[in-house]
Amino acid sequence: MSKVFVTRNWHPNAVKLLSKHFNVKVWDQPDIPSSEQIISSSQDCYAIFTEFDDKISSEIIESIPGLKVISNRAVGYENIDLRAAKKNNIKIGNTPGVLVESCADFTMGLMLDLARNITFSNRNVIDGKWVSFDQTPYLGTDVYQKHLAIIGLGQIATSVARRAVNGFNMEVSYWSRKRKPEIESELNLRYVNDINELIQNCDYLSIHCALTEDTYRIIDKEQFDLMKDVKLINTSRGPTINQNELLNAINNGNINSAALDVTDPEPPDYKSEIVGHPKILITPHLGSGSQETFNKMAQMAAENIINVFHNKNMISEVLID
Ligand code: DGY
Repeated sequence: MSKVFVTRNWHPNAVKLLSKHFNVKVWDQPDIPSSEQIISSSQDCYAIFTEFDDKISSEIIESIPGLKVISNRAVGYENIDLRAAKKNNIKIGNTPGVLVESCADFTMGLMLDLARNITFSNRNVIDGKWVSFDQTPYLGTDVYQKHLAIIGLGQIATSVARRAVNGFNMEVSYWSRKRKPEIESELNLRYVNDINELIQNCDYLSIHCALTEDTYRIIDKEQFDLMKDVKLINTSRGPTINQNELLNAINNGNINSAALDVTDPEPPDYKSEIVGHPKILITPHLGSGSQETFNKMAQMAAENIINVFHNKNMISEVLID
């Protein structure tokens, strides 16, 4: 029977599904597997079922003879050496679509949290600072009818825009590599051709673009210098913003506060300024992390492997140029 290696022990249902077709080996140690451990656990495997922080290098790819599929339980796949995969005729699967609404919910949660100082005030309650009725240290701003700027207009960003427009009556502008006139007219979005213009006139800025060479530090000193009291939300990838410049921008008032579900690096040093900063809310890469979506992503990653094994198309295959 062909073998599959699953790099975490989080997915009993997906393992059950895979076990109908494969001999499945599951990593069951508390620490994530190192490259050497992935190589030794995957020898003779037909497929590896990976998470987005498993670094699948060319060394790993070339050390597993017989490997045919890498199935990432994530939309992103920058953890995988695509060239090496292509060279070795290995198919890559990912899991877009099923996580869209959960990520959009989470983004709105972060926006509301920043707006109304929810986490900040809770930290003070925990520290014993609620001594009388006094809202003044925590007065935030509304979300309703404010201006949201969005970078990137993929599926998640579109769902965020839908919530913002329909639920919160927000004015929404966006920049994206590709203009999307249908979504623009459905949601009454304003397209802004220039990021520097987009970010100058918003109350909230939410980043949703994929991380590519072009979007690496798409928000850097130049952009922070143009902002005025903006609340920034990043649920895409940490390196889309320059974190040191974010700290400067918060300290000098260009940025009001930031909610980062993704950081650079991940996880951040918990003693670093960015983690301890009262105006920065950091969550541990939880955008897709509802129970339902977690399970759906795992099922899709398993089905991607099973489909290839049965000579069918993956539900979602990463096509490598
Ligand atoms: C993704 O799907 O790429 C997320 O960021 C990790 O779950």
